Amino acid sequence: MLTNLKEQPADKILALMQAFRADPREDKIDLGVGVYRNAEGVTPIMRAIKEAEKRWWEEETTKAYTGLAGDPAFTEAMTGLVLGDAVARDTVAAVATPGGTGAVRQAFELLLLANPDARVFVSDPTWPNHLSILKHLKIETVAYRYFDSTTGGVDFDGMMADLEQVRAGDVILLHGCCHNPTGANLTGPQWDDVIALVNRTGAVPMIDIAYQGFGDGLDADAAPTRAVAAGCPETLIAASCSKNFGIYRERTGVLMAVAQDSGLQTVTQGNLAHLNRQNFSFPPDHGARLVSLVLDSDDLRADWQAELEGMRTGMLGLREQLANDLRELTGSDRYGFIAQHRGMFSRLGLSPDLVEKLRAEHGVYMVGDSRINIAGLNADSVPKLARAIVEAGG
Ligand code: LMR
Repeated sequence: MLTNLKEQPADKILALMQAFRADPREDKIDLGVGVYRNAEGVTPIMRAIKEAEKRWWEEETTKAYTGLAGDPAFTEAMTGLVLGDAVARDTVAAVATPGGTGAVRQAFELLLLANPDARVFVSDPTWPNHLSILKHLKIETVAYRYFDSTTGGVDFDGMMADLEQVRAGDVILLHGCCHNPTGANLTGPQWDDVIALVNRTGAVPMIDIAYQGFGDGLDADAAPTRAVAAGCPETLIAASCSKNFGIYRERTGVLMAVAQDSGLQTVTQGNLAHLNRQNFSFPPDHGARLVSLVLDSDDLRADWQAELEGMRTGMLGLREQLANDLRELTGSDRYGFIAQHRGMFSRLGLSPDLVEKLRAEHGVYMVGDSRINIAGLNADSVPKLARAIVEAGG
């Protein structure tokens, strides 16, 4: 049997991670995988998470299974964090999943159960693993224009023109905030136009929100997701706790399915639990437990929000610094978009040759499409990066 296997294409983000580790140069700069790092280059365990772990260690009395949907305190707390009061709780079906990726996968599997002929419209570009999972599930994808590489912003006219092709029941995959890989995001009025298009066409919006709190703040980042959920008949939402709680390896995420018709909640919830059972049975609990402990306790929540806010403003500061340094070195504002982008990533618009040159000659690692992880920088490496980009011909 195993002799029939063919090699799978390498995931370019993970391959880059390995190449960085293997590079012996001491002054190398890792702007690859989307993991937050502080000024010392460390991915810290957030204070509130550490404290929650301590409390939970004292309190936990059993490792018996939770429910198939995970601990209800977790899905409830995450529904509150993402959706606020935008929709009534009895319109939301939710399950814990292994990370945000698990939620994305389960959402597509739910689509296969409900409407196997549906196509999924994805932004060009999108997170490569979206495409990979869709291909694996043999779901047809259609790319819609998204990034305007000349301005570094969103090609909104192109996007809307392409989305006119959706048929009722097709899914439109949207990034709730902090678009990965570009860093370019829709404005509030543009989100309203997308909501109107969804209602006019009968498409189903699916929102992947993996960076809530890394852009303009927890509520501001969730505002588009809330508007979509409140304004469309049905919405799928895959949310990750990896980044905003810093619990990457705990694999903590949630899939929510919102239907304005609350009569659909019970059967939707049953389908989500069924999918968990088929794919991995019970979702992991440890990270989910830490998240609900943090969100449900006033002191831990306040401390978590303060630390998250520090991470967010730190990344914004690095964006400003990089945009300024490049402005000075190039005598132009062509990298000004870096300060306008939000979240961990910016796509710089450099050619693959230039990206390779930066790696080979300057030890700067970024994804081949010139996506950089802003959190891989610090006050010392920003000027180095700016100089390297200009020296390499960017
Ligand atoms: C990224 O885009 O770098 C992150 O979402 C990590 C991953 O799994 O690809």
